[in-house]
Amino acid sequence: METLELNGSAEEGDALFKINCVGCHGITARGLVGPDLHSITQRLNDREIIKQVTGGLTPPMPSFDIDPVNMSNLLKYLHSLK
Ligand code: HEC
Repeated sequence: METLELNGSAEEGDALFKINCVGCHGITARGLVGPDLHSITQRLNDREIIKQVTGGLTPPMPSFDIDPVNMSNLLKYLHSLK
């Protein structure tokens, strides 16, 4: 999977998160409608997170049509959350 070969930018990922995810996961990813995402990278591996974001398997979370660079940035951001 191309995403996993990229070394994303947490800063870019943070910006993407603020545009696409905060409505449900909260401005600091501490959770609202959707769960707290701190330590998510300890529970799910990168492939599972990519599937979660692009799959649309758990409504109401929508599927995101996100390119590998942006997905890699998002992963880097999620890894930066402790
Ligand atoms: C419309 C609301 C909504 C939006 C927007 C949304 N999510 Fe979610 N998300 C949810 C809900 C609700 C769940 C819990 C789904 C379930 O397992 O039942 C979830 C689950 C998750 C999970 C898995 C959490 C776990 O504990 O297993 C991840 C990772 C995640 N979201 C990341 C994101 C990211 C990254 C974005 C932005 C690209 C995003 N979400 C946008 C509502 C949303």
